[in-house]
Amino acid sequence: MALSKQNDAEFFVRVTEVLEDRGDVRIFELRAPDGGELPPFSAGAHIDLHAKPDLVRQYSLLNDPQECHRYVIAIAMEPESRGGSRYFHEEVEAGDLLRISTPRCHFILKEDAPHSILIAGGIGITPIWCMAQRLSHLGRGFELHYVVRGRATAPLLDRMEITPMGEMARIATYFSRDPGGSRPDIETIVRNVPAGTQIYCCGPGGLLDTLKAATAHLPPETVHYEQFTAVAPVAAEGGFSVELARTGKTLEVKPGQTVLDAIREAGIKTTSSCREGICGSCETVVLSGTPDHRDAVLTDAEKAEGKTMMICCSGAHSPKLVLDL
Ligand code: FES
Repeated sequence: MALSKQNDAEFFVRVTEVLEDRGDVRIFELRAPDGGELPPFSAGAHIDLHAKPDLVRQYSLLNDPQECHRYVIAIAMEPESRGGSRYFHEEVEAGDLLRISTPRCHFILKEDAPHSILIAGGIGITPIWCMAQRLSHLGRGFELHYVVRGRATAPLLDRMEITPMGEMARIATYFSRDPGGSRPDIETIVRNVPAGTQIYCCGPGGLLDTLKAATAHLPPETVHYEQFTAVAPVAAEGGFSVELARTGKTLEVKPGQTVLDAIREAGIKTTSSCREGICGSCETVVLSGTPDHRDAVLTDAEKAEGKTMMICCSGAHSPKLVLDL
């Protein structure tokens, strides 16, 4: 994975329109205040969105990456919201300025695949719809399976139904709780896929678990997930040291601390956002030592390589880590 945090920058965008407001999901269009172009993004990318000084949330960009003039995001109201989604649902309106980061992408679309299978559950449609538009633009064959509780509350559905996607696209929707509703048969969808097929999934944990089980026979590099929630408890056992190669300091990570906590305690600034291993903003190069990975960003192969780690949540299997900080 190419580290992107060195390119991170923050800037303001204006909410130009609330494009959709159906119950528990609001869709916002964001543009540069001067009407100019925005930094480009790739399919599957997300941005950090600042709700308040210490409250940052990550949202996938859902519009076509061909569009240079706007970002479009969908924000679902989280029942247990600590202020993030609630703020964007109750306080943000057209005309407001919001601070965001440049787009980052850990959910990377392999654009040259001969065929792609895109699977989305609920609000997980956001990066998946972005990928679908990109594949359609490239003229690549793909199938999109979108499962949601009901037609009346399905985010993006109206937009999807009027967007021409070309002859190479096949889109199936499933309304699991509507009368006569259905769910996708994931095992059948991924059985006997043509060689080189890439599979992408974003949605609730149950859907991801089902897909993981159904694709266990496939090469891991062909199956890609976007997680909304942490996949493991944060490593806060401490008991190891961290040498910061560029800074020339060695720190002790104490019990109850993360690597990020120890670095901050030493007065060293470094990038972070979600602090639970989801967003990738704290990804740091490991020069030596063995990380104890707890994040949902790196692939299994990347974790095994151990060349980078998310310092907000991952710890160490070795007595010492040397980081490129
Ligand atoms: S701060 Fe989000 S992965 Fe570490």
